[in-house]
Amino acid sequence: MTTPRHFLTGDELSVSEQARLLTLAHDIKARPERYRRRLEGRTLAMIFQKKSTRTRVSFEAGMFQLGGHALFLGADDIQIGRGETISDTARVLSRYVDLIMARVYAHADVEELAATSRVPVINGLSDLHHPCQVLADLQTMAERFGSLHGRRLAYIGDGNNMAHSLLLGCARAGMSVSVATPSGYECQAAIVGRARALASAFGQTIVTSHDPAATVKGADAVYTDVWASMGQEDEHARRLRDFAGFQVDAALMAHAQPDAIFLHCLPAHRGEEVSAEVCDGPQSVIFDEAENRLHAQKALLLLLLEEVDS
Ligand code: CP
Ligand code: NVA
Repeated sequence: MTTPRHFLTGDELSVSEQARLLTLAHDIKARPERYRRRLEGRTLAMIFQKKSTRTRVSFEAGMFQLGGHALFLGADDIQIGRGETISDTARVLSRYVDLIMARVYAHADVEELAATSRVPVINGLSDLHHPCQVLADLQTMAERFGSLHGRRLAYIGDGNNMAHSLLLGCARAGMSVSVATPSGYECQAAIVGRARALASAFGQTIVTSHDPAATVKGADAVYTDVWASMGQEDEHARRLRDFAGFQVDAALMAHAQPDAIFLHCLPAHRGEEVSAEVCDGPQSVIFDEAENRLHAQKALLLLLLEEVDS
């Protein structure tokens, strides 16, 4: 049995594979009919420990559009909810389906799925990474910028799963990334270090600070995410206080390039991490990003199953 290709952090893709995936995503968006039967007879199992709109619907619609089928498995509806182990679940599911996607709390859960699955496992968000979102973000930036090389993304807010995946994905695309978080909410040092190694190969930089205005200065893209992620609802009031001064509003956007774009993975909390004026303003590309989840993930599904033109 050959080892399946997984997608847990994005680091599974080489620089050239990620670029190839983005080229394929552009073609899928332009000519979806070309790919209509590519996954005929294939099934994707989707395990969700947390809520989702975009991930659930874009994967399900994407599989359907490729000629395949997707199964929604809420963690409380399958035996995981009654204590069946992750590894037994992976062993069983991979006897039935061709791919597994999972949205989990602990990143170790997707690693355990991957360790025992016979089929590719995709991380549909864990507490540490959200690599599928970044594929769509890169596709969206490439649509606006043409080449991604040498562009700079400024991320403002929590050093969370989104920040980690943007660091890795943007660096792998030859971009620079600047991150501003409040003190105590920094990104994991090992992930910053890995991004630095990827970026330096392109002569690009990774900078972290606690200063939103300095971070946004001259940026081509400004990104933020919720201050309290799924599972952190109890910390919401404390985080509102700790993140004061980190809202992406028009005054902060004014430090970026005049034609800079605003990105957000969604769902957004207008009035918290972003003002309504920026979120719904002319620089915002948030709904293109949401749409591109569909195209980028169709490319990912084809790549993991090696159903791509050589
Ligand atoms: N951005 C994102 O992953 O959205 P959902 O939580 O709705 O899937
Ligand atoms: N950081 C957010 C992303 C949601 C798509 C969360 O984990 O809830």
